[in-house]
Amino acid sequence: MWEAGGPGLEPELSGPKPEVLPITPPPSAGVEPGRYYDARVPDPTVVILAAGEGTRMRSSTPKVLHPLCGRPLIAWPVAAAREAGAGRVVVVDNPKRQLEEHLPDGVEVAIQEEPLGTGDAVAAAAALIDPDATVVVVNGDVPLITAEAIATLVAAHDAARAKATMATMELDAPGGYGRVIRDGDGSVLKVVEAKGGANDATPEELEIREVNTGVFAFDGGALVAALQRLSSDNAQGEVYLPDVLPMLRDSDPTAVAAHFVDDPALTLGVNDRAELAEVRRLAQQRINTAHMRAGVTIVDPGSTTIDVTVTLAPDVTIEPYVQLHGSTSIGTGSTIGAMSTLTDTQIGEDVTVLHSHLTQARVDDGATVGPFAYLRPDAHLHPRAKAGTFVEIKNSEIGEGTKVPHLSYVGDADVGEGTNIGAGNITANYDGRNKHRTTIGKNVRTGVDTAFVAPVTVGDEAYTGAGSVITEDVPPKALGIARARQRNVEGYADRKKR
Ligand code: UD1
Ligand code: CA
Repeated sequence: MWEAGGPGLEPELSGPKPEVLPITPPPSAGVEPGRYYDARVPDPTVVILAAGEGTRMRSSTPKVLHPLCGRPLIAWPVAAAREAGAGRVVVVDNPKRQLEEHLPDGVEVAIQEEPLGTGDAVAAAAALIDPDATVVVVNGDVPLITAEAIATLVAAHDAARAKATMATMELDAPGGYGRVIRDGDGSVLKVVEAKGGANDATPEELEIREVNTGVFAFDGGALVAALQRLSSDNAQGEVYLPDVLPMLRDSDPTAVAAHFVDDPALTLGVNDRAELAEVRRLAQQRINTAHMRAGVTIVDPGSTTIDVTVTLAPDVTIEPYVQLHGSTSIGTGSTIGAMSTLTDTQIGEDVTVLHSHLTQARVDDGATVGPFAYLRPDAHLHPRAKAGTFVEIKNSEIGEGTKVPHLSYVGDADVGEGTNIGAGNITANYDGRNKHRTTIGKNVRTGVDTAFVAPVTVGDEAYTGAGSVITEDVPPKALGIARARQRNVEGYADRKKR
């Protein structure tokens, strides 16, 4: 499965890349080294349709902006198109939203004024279609499409010398997909739509299991000419892109080819949230498999969530029910224990994280976290530091080899190296209006239950007494003790009885 993975699916790995099948250029003279396509014609233009309402998602978020393994849906086909060597990538958007903000630089946007159907959507991009180029049309809701699948379709299209090549797949439960109608000799006649209540297909046609994947390669000039003749004379009252096929065929029976995709996972569409969950499962499986092939141990891939944007070094171990999100990266030899969640967090080498929650934190080599620690934005554990059990740290530097082992809150603090923070220490960093910093030097020993009322500084090699509320600076090597002296009332129990 992964072998077909394009960049859309390929996590950024710092270890050796997983094996990826080469994208074979079409056998023709004049191919420049390093290019996928014939250098004598423009590189293919990929048009990605994303202007539809996506009503079946029942969401206030546009369908193509729903996240899939750390990236919006629309970013997946865009990444595949780029990796396939597309000369231009055009996304068709509608005027009500700004997909542009979510697209990488260099991707062009065409606006379809009203969602009149997939044929009208491609027509909205007509001005950006070079008549000499091969145009690949991809639905924006097929995130599992890979660079290899696009390049293979273009190669098949060139080999067939067709004006249109439709990628088709066979599904056991073809549901709402358009059915492929072939004639007696097997050539493609047309597609009939089978969407929801408004159905163009006859009961016999509904039995057909070969469906339109929504991915096509066209001759640019022939496509633009045919688009001008499309109408909306069908059950949905929409302008259907597949209706260009019979038109192209009318003038030349060999003009329409089909390219069978034998792995339907490549072109599964996302129309509702159940389909999104299924696509997510497949995408996650590819991501996890790629990491395992690259030397990461994932104990239970089925329960492990890793965004496509995460970087893992070889010899990282990921235990069950771990979630790794965003720009998280993990260095070699580190173990992320069961039930941990890391978001936008940088983990060095040989780090152990047990059952903890880390967000925008940084943990350097040899440090340990948890169990049950919460590292919040800008918590930084220097090498071999420790954030132990029921410890919360935010916006603080925890020096090299310094330990915060138990039940503490450290916020807005700078702690030097070699220091030990006693159990239950709290930085009182907030006076109700402003946050203040606590500075604790190196090789300091704080007693249990010390409260630091910031701003306050404890010098190098100083001590604090257990239960102290430190409101004033403690000089280096001093003992700061700030608690009421104990008084014992002798014979109290006997007096009480009387
Ligand atoms: C479409 C195909 C169907 C195919 C299926 C594969 C048509 C008429 N039907 O059906 O044959 O089996 O894809 O997944 O082409 N869009 C626009 N503007 C519009 C309408 C749609 O940009 O006016 C975009 C949508 O945002 C979406 C894509 O086109 O990304 C497909 O639209 P959708 O409504 O999901 O088509 P399907 O019913 O899935
Ligand atoms: Ca669809």
